[in-house]
Amino acid sequence: MMRIDVLTLFPEAFESIFASSIVQRAQKKDLLRIVLTNIRDFAQDNYNSVDDKPYGGGPGMVMMPGPVFDCFEHVEKLSSEKGPVILLTPQGRKFGQKKAVELSKEKRLILITGRYEGFDERIRIGLGAEQISIGDFVLSGGELAAMVVIDAVVRLLEGAIGDESSAGDDSFSEGLLEYPQYTRPEVFRDMKVPDILLSGDHEKIAQWRRQMALERTKKHRPDLLKNNF
Ligand code: ADE
Repeated sequence: MMRIDVLTLFPEAFESIFASSIVQRAQKKDLLRIVLTNIRDFAQDNYNSVDDKPYGGGPGMVMMPGPVFDCFEHVEKLSSEKGPVILLTPQGRKFGQKKAVELSKEKRLILITGRYEGFDERIRIGLGAEQISIGDFVLSGGELAAMVVIDAVVRLLEGAIGDESSAGDDSFSEGLLEYPQYTRPEVFRDMKVPDILLSGDHEKIAQWRRQMALERTKKHRPDLLKNNF
């Protein structure tokens, strides 16, 4: 059973992941529990402030440490399981399939998502948090990034996907893009399914798929090959 705690200013933004069939199946099978906690419930003033102006000047607002620490300390005690504390921020290490696999082996994840220009640095330091970015672009908040991480991790939990073998076949699981897939009909608008896939020769099919995966990767993502061959 994996427990994922999410500390966020917008718990309602996470509703769409609960609608996902994989997350639903995982929760129903008790493989997963996702718990959302609103950082604003831990605001410490009459205005319910969670952000303030940056010391030293500059544009925008910064997430204050007080409400995040109080929220974290409350959430941490909700379960005795330990696991990595993760801040979603463009300052983080780039998220990828390898990290998803690593995180899928944890018993617990605590994800912290922010808004505004960023987190007060003492949040990262004080909570011993690791920073994860989902790519070199800036989102308006960490919620989408947290949902990306949750989705990529949850589908790797054993039993979460209907067909057990399908997660291992994914793009990137072997450092290659996936081979082309076809389903019925055999001919669609003059485009025919490659004969080999209809041949019933499983060895040849496996060979062809590997070849296609390599060619695609060479063409579209040559950077992936550098690390693997
Ligand atoms: N918050 C804003 N942009 C982000 C990104 N690219 N990755 C993770 N969290 C973010």
